[in-house]
Amino acid sequence: MERTFLMVKPDGVQRGVIGDIVARFERKGFQLVGAKLMQVSRELAEQHYAEHKERPFFGELVEFITSGPVFAMVWEGENVIATARQMMGKTNPQEALPGTIRGDFGLTVGKNIIHGSDSKESAAREIQLFFKEEELVSYSKLMNEWIY
Ligand code: PPS
Repeated sequence: MERTFLMVKPDGVQRGVIGDIVARFERKGFQLVGAKLMQVSRELAEQHYAEHKERPFFGELVEFITSGPVFAMVWEGENVIATARQMMGKTNPQEALPGTIRGDFGLTVGKNIIHGSDSKESAAREIQLFFKEEELVSYSKLMNEWIY
């Protein structure tokens, strides 16, 4: 079963929408296999966003993600990487459709509430960066028989 890394960014934590975001993925049928509230260090931020280090907003991105606690999560389910990105909406909340997380909760591209892995490769890399193997819990839910 596919896994993805999702993170409620500092603006989402400060605005008190962790619960709303978790509820959306649960209701969709995805399964939470790991989660923690944490402070991202500068080193971890730079590793996480390494692919963007040449972009003009890299410094801003690192400052922002280290500016307060984040809520890091691993979710599991069929096609969860692409589906979670759809549920998040476009990177710029002003272009994100109503009904998506960024469309409903965000206003500016700098503060866009949530991060989600964009491919199988980045999911594997980001999960491993943020979580130890023993922090992830595999378990079967009876409800899954009504989803798959
Ligand atoms: S994406 O989702 O990776 O395709 O988006 P991308 O446009 O490549 O942006 C990469 C991450 O940088 C954030 N971003 C910005 N931060 C600050 N200022 C500006 N102008 C800006 N533009 C993009 C964007 O939210 C992506 O972060 P994550 O955490 O992956 O969402």
